[in-house]
Amino acid sequence: MAAIDETAVRARIGAFRTAEGAGIPAGMVDSVATREGLVQVALMVAKADAARQEPMRRALEADLAAMPGVRNATVMFTAPRAAAPQPQAQAQAQAQEPGTLLGQVGSIVAVASGKGGVGKSTVAVNLAVALARQGKRVGLLDADIYGPSLPRMLGTKGKPEMAGNKLVPIEAWGLKAISIGHVVEEETAMVWRGPMVLNALTQLMTQVAWPELDVMVLDLPPGTGDVQLTLAQRLKLAGAVIVSTPQDISLLDARRGISMFRQVRVPILGVVENMSFFCCPNCGTRTDIFGHGGAEAEAGRLGVPFLGAVPLLAPIRETSDAGTPIVASAPESEAGRAFAAVATAVAAGLDGAGPARGPRIVIE
Ligand SMILES: Nc1ncnc2c1ncn2[C@@H]1O[C@H](COP(=O)(O)OP(=O)(O)O)[C@@H](O)[C@H]1O
Ligand SMILES: [Mg+2]
Repeated sequence: MAAIDETAVRARIGAFRTAEGAGIPAGMVDSVATREGLVQVALMVAKADAARQEPMRRALEADLAAMPGVRNATVMFTAPRAAAPQPQAQAQAQAQEPGTLLGQVGSIVAVASGKGGVGKSTVAVNLAVALARQGKRVGLLDADIYGPSLPRMLGTKGKPEMAGNKLVPIEAWGLKAISIGHVVEEETAMVWRGPMVLNALTQLMTQVAWPELDVMVLDLPPGTGDVQLTLAQRLKLAGAVIVSTPQDISLLDARRGISMFRQVRVPILGVVENMSFFCCPNCGTRTDIFGHGGAEAEAGRLGVPFLGAVPLLAPIRETSDAGTPIVASAPESEAGRAFAAVATAVAAGLDGAGPARGPRIVIE
């Protein structure tokens, strides 16, 4: 396979002509990223011009995809960079920034974890569905751009419809949901670098026709990086739910998550202990595989609420893989009741907490 690199892609863009014979000026190319045959190009196009330029975007995408060695090509538009703002205007823009996104949502709840694989997405999905079953208008936004799992867990693989220039959230299990996995091929986002990820996330908030909602559940990427901090700064988060397994190591990670949210003044709604204990499906005996109770004790030590324990059960994984969240498909099962109890605790926390005011970053 011919190696594809940025230079080759830029040369191809330079040679590209639309059906009308128009070329793409080099100044319009904001960024080019390549990795293992995946190509991602961002073109600077003014918002007002985007609809007119859409045929060009698609033609260029097809042209790049036809390059030998390219497995997948995505071309997207980004807003042209404005001239450097005056210091005063910049300060004003920053002061206005928190809370301007998703203003139509009553409470935004971030589901976070110190590391991957602890069941954060499983908790986010089932929490969202359980809140919807309690009569709330609930949205679910998959902010895990590098590892989107919502389309699989909700069983919604199709592309969202467009209404005007906005995406319509997918409806499933009483929720309105959107994931980068609904918009681009799963492999595509893998080549995105930091700024592009933040850009894509902002688009999932601003270019999606989110209706008025009582609660929006955010499935955050694992860890305590840029994405988490940026979202905590730019959104009026009502609170964070930290998911942890009982193992010590993930408790250490969970602690890092808690202190990050504290630094940006986002209330901690509490800790969920996932894969807490194992109930043998044959004999009913309960086994504390990872030493159950660690998260609850740790929550007590850190002075944050404990939102509940979810057992390690095969049906939770099976329903996740099948796209039928267990809270909806088996609400009376042990797992279904455990998630419903977590949702009740979260809802109680939200009633008490109210939305956080604009968070401030403390740099020490
Ligand atoms: N309580 C549980 N019992 C059984 N399997 C679980 C449980 N929680 C999560 N899983 C499974 O563990 C895997 C990782 O969960 P996931 O929610 O994708 O984690 P994360 O989002 O933190 O990376 C998935 O296959 C999921 O189905
Ligand atoms: Mg996940």
